[in-house]
Amino acid sequence: MAARKLLIDVHTHVYLPRYASVLRSRPTAPRILSRPTPNGSGTEERLVILENEPSGGRPVGPQYWDRDEKLSFMDKHGIDISIVSTANPWLDFLSPAEAPSIAESLNADLESYCSTAPSFSSLSRLYGFGLLPLLPSVPASVLLRIIDQIASLPHLKGVIMGTRGLGKGLDDEALEPVWEALAREGLVVFLHPHYGIPSSEWGERENGHVLPLALGFPFETTIATTRLILSGVLDRHPALRLLLAHSGGALPQLSSRLASCIDHDPLVAARLRHDARWYLGRLWFDAVAYGREELAFVAECVGRADSYDKSHQRALGAARLLFGTDHPFFPPLQDTETWHSVTENLEAIAGVEGWSEEERENVRGGNAARLFGLV
Ligand code: URA
Ligand code: ZN
Repeated sequence: MAARKLLIDVHTHVYLPRYASVLRSRPTAPRILSRPTPNGSGTEERLVILENEPSGGRPVGPQYWDRDEKLSFMDKHGIDISIVSTANPWLDFLSPAEAPSIAESLNADLESYCSTAPSFSSLSRLYGFGLLPLLPSVPASVLLRIIDQIASLPHLKGVIMGTRGLGKGLDDEALEPVWEALAREGLVVFLHPHYGIPSSEWGERENGHVLPLALGFPFETTIATTRLILSGVLDRHPALRLLLAHSGGALPQLSSRLASCIDHDPLVAARLRHDARWYLGRLWFDAVAYGREELAFVAECVGRADSYDKSHQRALGAARLLFGTDHPFFPPLQDTETWHSVTENLEAIAGVEGWSEEERENVRGGNAARLFGLV
């Protein structure tokens, strides 16, 4: 019988204790506040990530910071390895003066969180994405020093990054040395949203977190990645490896429209070396899409860079998709043994029409093992 292949979660978050303390010390969002429980029997902590969040934010507890909780969640769902990242909004709310030293401390904390975790064969169960102090006026020399730090920490395999860059987005020329260093060091950039799109778009009806998370998050990623492509970052840094959260948002769906708009705009058409659809094949996408049709579609769009044949495209695209959970977000509303947000993504991978068993195994873990150098 063939050995069981690895299940690797590339989209799974933590608020390290040091980070949670910073959030507890803050009077405004993002913050962790403490308030009496509704029945008055004690106090509870709530996480408020954005101002104006409905119902005073969401419950927060050890699942956000306790490593044993992460490992027991992994055990419950058969996850062998997690590539853990600090959850949003990272260091975005800190001052440029304080962020670099906090970034360095959190990177060292994450290395020790991973390196002291249980291991099997030569692998740890935990690896991580480090943090960069991406804030206006942080000098490139400081960013490069912290990239060196991350590259020197054996369990850190990349960085998690929001969409603001140094305040002007990811098409900012000031980021050139950062892309160059990340590509040179072989660190994977996990691009993740936080801000969504302006809440004025959501109207007056109360829809809880649905519109910002289901639509705002992926649209933010779509816009940020498109701007990065349009600025030529992927042309100038072919070795740069970018992993997009939530299967790249709407980018696959809109990629041919994007290509057409570029074709009809002489300024941008002259700037790019390739058709817009080509760049999709150079990116990696988490498989946090919750549906097999969506995964199949993303795979076809991604594989289109290298083939004209639909089933071949779907197979090629399978090499660029990676299982993720978004833990500890999206816990079940009722007590259940396993989390629906996880089983739904596993079922989607199992259900994509036309994928071979090997392609499914690659999405579950083989692609991550290669991308993060675990094999
Ligand atoms: N998933 C995340 O990563 N962050 C959120 O704020 C909500 C869901
Ligand atoms: Zn996430």
